[in-house]
Amino acid sequence: MAKTVDMRLKTSLLEDTVKKLNKQIQMEGVSSFYYLGMASWAEIHGYKHAAQFLFDHAAEENLHMMKIMKYVNDAGGHAHAPEIKNIRNEFASLREVFETILEHEVAVSKAINNLVDYCFTAKDFGTFQFLQWFVGEQREEEAVSRQMLDFFDLIGEEGQGLYLIDLEIGKFAAQINAAAQTEAK
Ligand SMILES: [Fe+2]
Ligand SMILES: [Fe+2]
Repeated sequence: MAKTVDMRLKTSLLEDTVKKLNKQIQMEGVSSFYYLGMASWAEIHGYKHAAQFLFDHAAEENLHMMKIMKYVNDAGGHAHAPEIKNIRNEFASLREVFETILEHEVAVSKAINNLVDYCFTAKDFGTFQFLQWFVGEQREEEAVSRQMLDFFDLIGEEGQGLYLIDLEIGKFAAQINAAAQTEAK
């Protein structure tokens, strides 16, 4: 008779850790689709540069999700594909899109911080170390959303304001991409 493998021997991750990481996978997956809904809205409203930034960011969030899935599975756990529902497709304005992003990124940062705190208490230093990348990434993403929102205040939305804001968003996104490429070298 085949011996059943004790799952506890297959992974060094605690059951609770896998559960929490699956929750984070869910959050990153949902983030990706949040950005997708925003990107599409921006595109049909003529905000070409903002749309590009948002489409690119949707792809980035997908990578975050995959990164955690790979970590869980490599460590012997079972990563679950997220359930995607309640994605917004309508926004009152481009400013509202970026306000929603900042609010969302702050919530993600809190979730990551809670996860890091949990890992430290549970003495799961492997996952603790793995999550450090996400800590830095969240700090950057919050800063980017704040900068994007600043354009609305600095330029103003009247007249050609929104056209100029969209251009600045594009320029700033290009700067971020260039910096990320140099970092990757
Ligand atoms: Fe993310
Ligand atoms: Fe994010």
